[in-house]
Amino acid sequence: MKKLVSSRQLEPDVLEEIFHVARYMRRVCDMKGRTDLLNDKIVGLIFLEPSSRTMLSFQSAAQRLGAGILFMQGKGTTSFEKGESVEDAIKVVGSYCDLIVARLREAGDARLASDVSDVPFINAGDGGNEHPTQSLIDAFTIQEELGGLANRSYCFGFDPLQSRSIHSLCLLLSRYSGITMTFVSPPELQLPVWLREELTRSGVTVHETTDINACRAADVIYVNRLQEERFSDPQLFEQYRYHYRLTASMISPANRIILDPLPRIDEISTCVDPLPVAAYFRQAKNGIYVRMALLTKMLDRV
Ligand code: NCD
Repeated sequence: MKKLVSSRQLEPDVLEEIFHVARYMRRVCDMKGRTDLLNDKIVGLIFLEPSSRTMLSFQSAAQRLGAGILFMQGKGTTSFEKGESVEDAIKVVGSYCDLIVARLREAGDARLASDVSDVPFINAGDGGNEHPTQSLIDAFTIQEELGGLANRSYCFGFDPLQSRSIHSLCLLLSRYSGITMTFVSPPELQLPVWLREELTRSGVTVHETTDINACRAADVIYVNRLQEERFSDPQLFEQYRYHYRLTASMISPANRIILDPLPRIDEISTCVDPLPVAAYFRQAKNGIYVRMALLTKMLDRV
C-alpha cells in the first residue's frame, strides 16, 4: 500500500500486518523512545484544517523513527492562500520529501492529491469525508483491549452525518462478520445515505435512533463531537450542541469500551473519565504506535 485515501483499503489482513508492526513500535517506544529506521527520509506534513492529535502524533511518530519533517499549515502562510491548486502543491511538496501526510479541506481532495502524488500519500482527513488513520487507531485500540473486532455491537454518536472518524471506522468494520451498528443522533444528523447503503450491502445490521439510551446495549460506544465547522445552518448546531452527552450513569455493564477520537467538547462528561472502560486517552496514545507502523510500512522499511 503506497497511498492511503480511504478505510475501504484497510482489509483485515492489511490491518493485522499494521497492528503487528504497531506492537513492535510500542515496545521500541517503551524501551528506548526511538529508532533510526527512517533516518534517511523526510516526511511532508500538510495541514489545511485545524489539528492537534493527528498533526502532533504524526510529527512525533516521524521523529521517533529518525525522519526529518517538512511542515505546511493553512491560513496565511502558504501559497494555498494565493489560490494554488491542491494538485500543484502536492506535486511540489512531493519533490521535497519522501512521503506526504495531508489534511485537506474538501471531501474528495485526498483522492485528487493521491492521484497526482509521486511519493506515498496518507489522507489525514479530507473535509467531512474520511479519516482512515484515525480508524486504524480506533481498530487497534479495540483489538488490544477487547481481543477482536468481529461479532460485536457498536453504538455511534452523535453526528454520523458529518464525522469523518465515524465514516472511516464504519467502513473498516464493515469488512468483519457479525457487526451491528446503532447510530444515535438528531434526525437531521443521521448517517449519509451513501454510507448506510454501503454498510447494508456489506452485511452490517444498521439501526438509527434519536435515543441516547440505545448506547446501553452496545459492546463498543464511539462518540465524536458535533462537527460545528461543517454545519451549513449554525442554528441547527445551537439547537443540538448540548442535546447529547454521555454521563457515567448511562454506562451499563454491557459496555466494554468507550472511544472518542477527541477533541472532547460536550459529548462526554468528565465524570466518565475514571471508569476503566473509558479508553479515549489510551486511544490517543496508540496514535503514535499506529502512525509509526504506517510510515515504516509505506516507506518499505518493515
Ligand atoms: C477528529 C477529526 O479531525 O476529524 N479528530 C482527530 O483527528 N483526532 C475528530 C474531530 O475533530 O471531531
